[in-house]
Order: sequence, then C-alpha cells, then structure tokens
Amino acid sequence: MNITSYFSHGLFKGKTIFITGGGSGINLGIAKNFAALGASIAICGRTQEKLDNAAVELRALGAKVCTAVADVREMAALEAAMAKTKAELGPIDVLVCGAAGNFLVPAEHLSANGFRTVIDIDLMGSFNASRAAFSQLQETRGSIIFISAGQAYMPYAYQVHVAAAKAGIDMMMKNLALEWGKYGIRCNSIAPGPIEGTEGMKRLSSPDALAQLQAGIPLGRLGTVDEIGQVAVFLASPLASYVSGSVLVADGGQNLAGSALFNIGAEKMMKTAATGKK
Ligand code: COA
Repeated sequence: MNITSYFSHGLFKGKTIFITGGGSGINLGIAKNFAALGASIAICGRTQEKLDNAAVELRALGAKVCTAVADVREMAALEAAMAKTKAELGPIDVLVCGAAGNFLVPAEHLSANGFRTVIDIDLMGSFNASRAAFSQLQETRGSIIFISAGQAYMPYAYQVHVAAAKAGIDMMMKNLALEWGKYGIRCNSIAPGPIEGTEGMKRLSSPDALAQLQAGIPLGRLGTVDEIGQVAVFLASPLASYVSGSVLVADGGQNLAGSALFNIGAEKMMKTAATGKK
C-alpha cells in the first residue's frame, strides 16, 4: 500500500469511516487505505470471524476499529451497528456501501428469488445503509461512496440481476446527491473493473477467461484493491470537495473495449460447469 506516499498520514485523523461488507475484498482494501491515513474504521458484514480477522489487519495499521455483525438487508441490524459505531468511534464521516452479491446465471434459469436476493443486498442494502447513516452524516456533513460496477452501464452476460442492481445504485446515488447536497452530504460511486484476488473475480472468471479478459484491458492488467482504495480516499478527501453525483470508473479502460471478451469467457465457464469438461 503506498497511499501514505501521496497523502498525509493524518488526513483522516478523527474521522470515522463505516464500510458495509468491510471484512474482505475491495471493501477491506478501502478500509485499509483509510486506516493508513489515520481514520477510525467501522466494518459490518455477516460473519464475525471475517470481521475479526479484518480488524486485526486494520489495527496493525494503527486504526481504532469497531465491528458489528449486520446483514445490509436488515435495517434494524444496520441501525444498531451505526449506533455502536457512534458510541465507540464518533459519528460517521464517510459511509462506503460496498456489500454485494454476485453469481453468473443465464436469465432464463434465474429464479425470482435469486434476482431479488441481489437487488436486496446491492440496491436495498445501499439504500438501507444510507438511510440509517443519514442523521450521522448530516451531523458531520459527510459523504457516501457507493460501489457500483461496469454492469450498471453496459450489459454483461449472465448478470441481469447485477445490472439492474448496480444501475439502480448509480441512479439512487444521483438522487441522494441532489437531495442531500443541502446538508453538505456528497454522494458518489466508484465503478471498479476487474480487481485481482477478489471473491467477485473468482465467481465471474476462470483463469483462462481472466487471461483473455486481461488482454482486452487497455492498461493490460487487472486492478488491485489498493487502487480502488486510493480512489475512495480521493472521493472522501477535501480534494473532492466539489465532486458530488459522479460515477468514477476505475477499470484500466476495460469498458472502452466493451463486454464481449468477458462474455466469451463467461460462456466457456458456464459450459465447463455444465459438462465438467474444459
Ligand atoms: N445461480 C442461480 N441462482 C442462484 C445462485 C446461482 N449461482 N446462487 C444463489 N441463487 C439463488 C438461490 O437459488 C435462491 O433462489 P431460490 O430460493 O429461488 O432457489 C436465491 O438466489 C437466494 O440464494 P441464497 O443462497 O439463499 O442467498 P444468500 O442470501 O444466502 O446468499 C448470494 C446471497 C446468493 C448473493 C451469495 O452468493 C452470497 O452470499 N454472495 C456474497 C459474496 C459475493 O457474492 N461476493 C462477490 C461480490 S461481487
């Protein structure tokens, strides 16, 4: 992590960052970048063990940490997690809505409950967290960062549920930016491209498909969780004080080439899963 080479260590000293799904992946990467800059970190997720392991890493960076088991689909659990955060770390300055679910499935095989599950986690979960954090964000004149994806603005095969959820998140982000600007609350989205070593990439790509996908990325490589953490730090920092209602795409230019390479890889994965043969 090289964030402290570019931003001052105390940039987020005295600030509280609350991250849904903060126990792993991109969200933990975001948490670590804020922790390295002096922030106190609250993370919620569905499993205490994952949160405990993440807390060890965050404390090693010098952060005060609060963990709370909360599924973003349950408003009462989120409200309790945020009340605990306020009591232990102070009111929330930055909310990162990162909890998400994904799996590849042809639309004709996706059940109504499967579609709803991803909408509930990604879209409803992001609204629930924003709504639950509102009074604290109003107090701090804080900001919200939503984790979107390329699926929000370009179709990707076998992800109709994710497309609907992520497009909904970006439009909701713009509405909240419009309505809550008067409280000094800024709202923005990050749309990460393929990020190495994440649960998302495991679910969406085989090693073969990944190599092919990578060949189509203008920067020629996958991103890292730290590179998304750096974008989050920028959006939450005073450097972005006039940025609200924006979707910041951080994908090495992947979207410029469209989703065809991803779709070919996803097709192969689905066939392999169905036949058990490569
Ligand atoms: N293909 C088709 N349908 C699927 C599926 C798959 N691979 N995985 C789950 N579903 C469907 C289930 O069949 C169920 O629908 P049904 O009741 O009609 O059968 C519905 O989705 C809910 O599944 P369930 O396992 O009960 O949901 P959950 O709340 O326990 O888990 C998920 C949520 C499904 C999103 C799960 O994949 C998850 O927990 N993901 C979190 C991690 C993650 O996805 N990270 C990557 C983010 S990019």
